[in-house]
Amino acid sequence: MEKSSMISGFYKLSPKERVKLVKEFADLTDEEAATLQSTGALPLELADRMIENVVGAFQVPLGIAVNFLINKKDYLIPMAIEEPSVVAAASKAAKMARDGGGFYTSSTGPIMIGQIQAVQVKDPCAARMRILGAKEEILKKANDQDPLLVSVGGGAKDLDAKVINAINGQMLITELHVDCRDAMGPNAVNTMLEAVAPSIEKITSGRIYLRIISNLATKRLARAWCVVPKEAVGGEEVVEGVVQAYAFAAADPYRAATHNKGILNGVIGVVIATCNDHRAVEAGAHAYAARNGHYGSLSVWEKNENGDLVGSIELPMAIGIIGGAIRTHPIAKIALKILGVKTASELGEVLAAVGLAQNLGALRALAAEGIQRGHMRLHARNIAIASGATGDVIDIIVEKMVEERKIRMDRAKELMDEYNKNGKL
Ligand code: MEV
Repeated sequence: MEKSSMISGFYKLSPKERVKLVKEFADLTDEEAATLQSTGALPLELADRMIENVVGAFQVPLGIAVNFLINKKDYLIPMAIEEPSVVAAASKAAKMARDGGGFYTSSTGPIMIGQIQAVQVKDPCAARMRILGAKEEILKKANDQDPLLVSVGGGAKDLDAKVINAINGQMLITELHVDCRDAMGPNAVNTMLEAVAPSIEKITSGRIYLRIISNLATKRLARAWCVVPKEAVGGEEVVEGVVQAYAFAAADPYRAATHNKGILNGVIGVVIATCNDHRAVEAGAHAYAARNGHYGSLSVWEKNENGDLVGSIELPMAIGIIGGAIRTHPIAKIALKILGVKTASELGEVLAAVGLAQNLGALRALAAEGIQRGHMRLHARNIAIASGATGDVIDIIVEKMVEERKIRMDRAKELMDEYNKNGKL
């Protein structure tokens, strides 16, 4: 009989019952079903409350990047990531930056933008004026929704409105600027938007559709910069190579996408470790990289008068240290404690520094030696493990593959067979 994915009431089942169904559907072995349910530090009941239809928890390695000096303060950086070399590269780059005094940072306030879409507005330009004129009343209504946020200094602070030319005509977009303090803020912002939407509808005599936070958080920017002495980075040639790599990314979106991916390797590792919304941060970063109508680099690398390397970065940082899963996920709580950040803005600034370090690590490796040298050994290790090697045999297989420059699964399997037959290579 054909198996069907139409399962009514799946959500009402317990995780165990769901696993039973998935096991049957996908022909999982008993061992696979058990592995699926081993949730590590995240209790299954907690996971089941976090999202829907839970059957287990997905674990990725958590590493600590070291050597970070940010605004003269030492930080250990927890990173959750599956990719080898990222944590090592961040640590190495942070050490180079440390030789020049480490990273310095700043940020704007923690202001998120929420949008309200009004369509079929007969006089959109005049309606825009009416909305701007009603600013105080709209802000008050918004702030009435969240007295707690207001009591800690946050809340709706400003309002803007713009007429946009959509493919089906003009629309009037009202934007609420909400200071979210230490929360990422979607719940607070979306609640405010929904509360003020009827007033906007009345003022514009249009029809309201979307009321939703924007992930292009241009009023919640984090910045970091550093000076890396040329000796620390590997000499004048390497400085020149990094500056050339930046120029390439600034001019070419194909390179910029990879350059920015390297930055996000670091940023997202920490965002995941702290159980923040990494999709929001990534969407914001890429949109920000295209803010001038051309997708470019999020970072800048220059050479100063001494020939040292100067890096800087600015990116939107929609993250929090309270709310959502941040304070419920046991590992996220510990990750935040390791970071020792006191505010969401501080976390944002640390993230900017980590992104810049990660970028430096990648560009330096690319400019100086090619990325494969560093990646090779770790990649070989993963392949050796996947081919069945355990304990000391892993290193034996890795050494052989690196020596032969043949880092492939088929070769790892051949070597494993040879080792199993002869007890050596
Ligand atoms: C790999 O995950 C990231 C890099 O490709 C970044 C870059 O090319 O700048 C090494």
